Amino acid sequence: MNELHDKTNRSLDGRTVLVTGANGGLGEQFVRQALERGARKVYAAARKPKGREDRRVEPLALDVTDSGAVARAVASAPDVDLLINNAAIAPGGDSISGPEDELRRIFETNFFGTLRVANAFIPVLGANGGGTMLNILSAAAWISVPTGYAASKAAMWSATNALRLQLLGQGTQVIGLLVGMVDTPTSARWEVPKVSAASVVAQAYDGVADGAIEILADEQTRGLKSQLSAKAEQFYPWLHEQLKFFVA
Ligand SMILES: NC(=O)c1ccc[n+]([C@@H]2O[C@H](COP(=O)([O-])OP(=O)(O)OC[C@H]3O[C@@H](n4cnc5c(N)ncnc54)[C@H](OP(=O)(O)O)[C@@H]3O)[C@@H](O)[C@H]2O)c1
Repeated sequence: MNELHDKTNRSLDGRTVLVTGANGGLGEQFVRQALERGARKVYAAARKPKGREDRRVEPLALDVTDSGAVARAVASAPDVDLLINNAAIAPGGDSISGPEDELRRIFETNFFGTLRVANAFIPVLGANGGGTMLNILSAAAWISVPTGYAASKAAMWSATNALRLQLLGQGTQVIGLLVGMVDTPTSARWEVPKVSAASVVAQAYDGVADGAIEILADEQTRGLKSQLSAKAEQFYPWLHEQLKFFVA
């Protein structure tokens, strides 16, 4: 295990963090709690970065679909040792049977964009002691919500586990975070129980400090994982019952 993870106080003392999608619901929390936990510096990356009061925060322009912008971000942030791939889109009207252009747009951000940033920062993490890559996935990676979003998260779940293997040699901690509904602008259109962004981020940073490789950040997702080994003939009818709300 990389010595960066050998912490018992779960602080981020001395860490340099980069958060993509830093203006969003979870993104804001990732920035705020990194500061509270003592991070040395936080790059708050966003398509339109905003000014920040804390001098430890460095706003960074980063559209994850723009390879030039990703290369510039790597050049501007050579000291990152905790990369948080948080940016994603979840457009209204998204359907797995919808227009191919729209499905490609979702994959361009959620899968290729995330993977582009991940791959671009591999040498940076390696040069900074191995470090940590935290990929924000979704319980939708495991449940058959009929959307391009869910498919993109399933693809990124697979890629996250592959990156972990790929990066064994440089000692990078690669974490997948899965969670159901979180109270952020993305989920505003669904009136269902949601956990707070603050609780998800707190569990994420605890996991970083503890050397976790998978974080299941709500009861729903922890319960879901325990069901995955059930027979398909039992599991999918059970799942469809849970998901009626989304396809009604
Ligand atoms: N909310 C939930 O229920 C939930 C559940 C499971 C997983 N998640 C995941 O949690 C993460 C954060 O989502 P959230 O709920 O906080 O949503 P959010 O408030 O919509 O934040 C998403 C952020 O991603 C940014 N973004 C979108 N496209 C981008 C691009 N091409 N380049 C750079 N940034 C881009 C957005 O930036 P702009 O401000 O520029 O649009 C926004 O700030 C996502 O990965 C999401 O899939 C959310």
